[in-house]
Amino acid sequence: MENLKKNAIVTGARTGIGHATVEKMASVGINIWACAHRKDEEFEKDMEELAKRHHIWIEPVYFDLEVESEIKQGLRKIIAKRLSVDILVNNAGVPHGALLQMTSMNDLKKVFDVNFFSQILIMQMVSKVMMRQRGGSIINMVSVAGIDSDAGYTAYGSSKAALSFATKVASKELASYGIRINAVAPGLVETKMGMAMDETYKKMMVEQASLKRMGNPKEVADVIAFLASEEASFITGQIWRVDGGL
Ligand SMILES: NC(=O)c1ccc[n+]([C@@H]2O[C@H](COP(=O)([O-])OP(=O)(O)OC[C@H]3O[C@@H](n4cnc5c(N)ncnc54)[C@H](OP(=O)(O)O)[C@@H]3O)[C@@H](O)[C@H]2O)c1
Repeated sequence: MENLKKNAIVTGARTGIGHATVEKMASVGINIWACAHRKDEEFEKDMEELAKRHHIWIEPVYFDLEVESEIKQGLRKIIAKRLSVDILVNNAGVPHGALLQMTSMNDLKKVFDVNFFSQILIMQMVSKVMMRQRGGSIINMVSVAGIDSDAGYTAYGSSKAALSFATKVASKELASYGIRINAVAPGLVETKMGMAMDETYKKMMVEQASLKRMGNPKEVADVIAFLASEEASFITGQIWRVDGGL
């Protein structure tokens, strides 16, 4: 990945795939607005050390993806800096597993608030900046659960399928502004979310994967970083599976 002193927004930066993405981007000299759910001193110290090590800046930004006003406030703070926003990694998300009859409307709405509505709002606000600067790369985090219709994924799978679809639509609408929009669809990955899955389900996913193991966050972050880079300049509107061969 090239080092061109770019600036990136990464959501869900405190843990898992988001944290691995921040580490990867920092290592190639990209400045980062590291967005997390709530203020956290340990996270701030971690980001400070990472920035120092790679001679870049990392600014923590906090907002709850369930609260529209917080998202707008957080992004306005970023936009007000009048710096370029070259990369957006819409990574944060919430899991949910329940059969159709057990999926409450409240849960369904909460999952869609975080995994779909907030992601669209962020894309709308950030792509406005990218349209003005006539360029940028957006990577949305979806899931194989939004492609391979397994039982128990009415809420989570549907929210990720909706985001995959919006990724493709937005890629067509914004291509003429030089904006590429892709999504990454991981299989089972060793993060807080991945490890919290039911043991039987984890075993089944590992069995089904050709590589017979879970992925690690860095393996997903590497694909995100590739899609964000100029090396992926002819790639847009794609859903990239990173699933060990499911
Ligand atoms: N791990 C897997 O097996 C897997 C597979 C397919 C797709 N994915 C997707 O990968 C993405 C990253 O997940 P991960 O695996 O890295 O798990 P993770 O470590 O649990 O990360 C999820 C991140 O989302 C943040 N988040 C959740 N709700 C939020 C809210 N309301 N407002 C702001 N931030 C919020 C979390 O912050 P807090 O912890 O502070 O709430 C956390 O940093 C998600 O979109 C997930 O759906 C994961």
